[in-house]
Amino acid sequence: MIEIRDLHKSFADKKVLRGVNLIIEPGQTTTIIGGSGSGKSVLFKHVIGLMKPDSGSIFVEGEDITKMSESELYRMVDKFGMVFQSGALFDSLSVGANVAFGIKNRKDMDAAAIDLIIERSLNQVGLSDIAQLLPAELSGGMKKRVAIARVIAKEPAIIMFDEPTTGLDPIMADMINELIIKVSADPAITSIVITHDMISAYKISDKIAVLFEGEIIETGSPEEIRNTKNAVVRQFIEGKAEGPIKIR
Ligand SMILES: Nc1ncnc2c1ncn2[C@@H]1O[C@H](COP(=O)(O)OP(=O)(O)OP(=O)(O)O)[C@@H](O)[C@H]1O
Ligand SMILES: [Mg+2]
Repeated sequence: MIEIRDLHKSFADKKVLRGVNLIIEPGQTTTIIGGSGSGKSVLFKHVIGLMKPDSGSIFVEGEDITKMSESELYRMVDKFGMVFQSGALFDSLSVGANVAFGIKNRKDMDAAAIDLIIERSLNQVGLSDIAQLLPAELSGGMKKRVAIARVIAKEPAIIMFDEPTTGLDPIMADMINELIIKVSADPAITSIVITHDMISAYKISDKIAVLFEGEIIETGSPEEIRNTKNAVVRQFIEGKAEGPIKIR
């Protein structure tokens, strides 16, 4: 579905991505874990075409998006659904208008059909009767769920989640995990999750990829990662200050 090949990116003399290689299988949930500043968000921005690499390629359904023109990229990225860390809702739009954002220009749907999708999508994330509210009136957990409802409404083939559980209490985080599992269960949907929440990574992933010093140093199933012998990966998943990873 997506193949990242030898991706390099530097800012001035700071090498952030130093040859990232990763295959994201269709229909699976792939989670990229890594410490703060390891380049997760930079990698995320490359996959959605917001950043261009210094070298390397990203193939989405066989096409290299790093070589695409603006308009080709736009068509490709339209297949993506994105749940940003903050939720990235439009503050001045109601919850309902936010949920409908990805489908509002669809010619095959009238207002009633769109209203039905808004209601159905909000119900799926356990929120009803809030379509009229503004984002400012919601808690952090509700905003994340609205952002997921927006993705559900759009029915994209590829969904990217950036730190979906960060900053939530454990129960709300688990509810978001369950939602990610639910929307990703459809074999037509490929999910990519970026996180440093290991509870979440173990629960939702088919495959976990570990980003460290600009490279994917290990990939495996949750069970394989849990049992890794790699000292760097062990330090990260166990959350220890002592170990080969130097804190800067
Ligand atoms: N536009 C930019 N210009 C210059 N440096 C950047 C830019 N974007 C990211 N960086 C640098 O790239 C490195 C990786 O940043 P990135 O945001 O990808 O980290 P991260 O893994 O997402 O961390 P966190 O878990 O804290 O969100 C950082 O050192 C950051 O300063
Ligand atoms: Mg980040």
